[in-house]
Amino acid sequence: MSSATDVAYLTRALKMPRARQVASSLADTARDEGWDYTEFLAKVLSEEVASREAHGGENRVKAARFPQTKTLDDFDFTHQRSVSKQQIAHLHQLDFIREAHNVVFLGPPGTGKTHLSISLGVQAARRGYRVAFASATDWVMRLGEAKRAGRLADELERLGRIPLLIVDEVGYIPFDPDAASLFFQLVSSRYEQSSLIVSSNKSFSAWAEIFGDAVAVEAMVDRLVHHSHVHVLKGDSYRLKDKQREVMATTETT
Ligand SMILES: Nc1ncnc2c1ncn2[C@@H]1O[C@H](COP(=O)(O)OP(=O)(O)O)[C@@H](O)[C@H]1O
Ligand SMILES: [Mg+2]
Repeated sequence: MSSATDVAYLTRALKMPRARQVASSLADTARDEGWDYTEFLAKVLSEEVASREAHGGENRVKAARFPQTKTLDDFDFTHQRSVSKQQIAHLHQLDFIREAHNVVFLGPPGTGKTHLSISLGVQAARRGYRVAFASATDWVMRLGEAKRAGRLADELERLGRIPLLIVDEVGYIPFDPDAASLFFQLVSSRYEQSSLIVSSNKSFSAWAEIFGDAVAVEAMVDRLVHHSHVHVLKGDSYRLKDKQREVMATTETT
């Protein structure tokens, strides 16, 4: 059997499709450029690793169920001046996930809370972390279903194995007491174990009203922000900015 056949067979057995693709052309380059054996082996393996990271990343991005894909590069820091590019870029290095810390974005509609949450989530997924995105209402609904099926603890444990959950839009709809209790359990189950990114159009002082129970809210917010990066976004809606430009353009041409 030729060694090319060996490589074809062995890379298949080891499930290394990218190594299989590149082995023979890298061997040619190695001969031409006089690479040593270790150098050649490192090149083949790093092709395989890069390809796995790229594919795994896109699978994790899909699995996270982001409503759109947003990135840090699309974010205009000249429009949103209440956060610094440096701070947000630092968050994208994802130390907060390694430390099981949280990120909170507060601010009125259209100020970029969801955009930044998604761009952090996409970055995390591409860097190898599992991520799951949903609105606060959806999370509570899912936990409610688990509870009715008698498997709330299992569900919280399963979610605990996902290093980053994104909870969008806390406060758009008030919670009934059952929903509030499920949300509290979600926050406390992750405390110092795994990360949350939470965004809300209401300040913490208004959360008592959303959740109904001021004392329980205080305990929950305490856990949420104990190890967290809280960013308060200000200003006009970015959505309206585009609308205003459209309106201006229409009035100019008529
Ligand atoms: N500073 C910004 N630069 C670029 N796009 C932005 C910015 N702020 C908001 N957007 C865009 O405007 C829309 C609304 O922003 P979003 O993040 O959904 O706001 P929020 O969640 O705070 O209501 C989105 O399409 C988002 O990508
Ligand atoms: Mg939003």
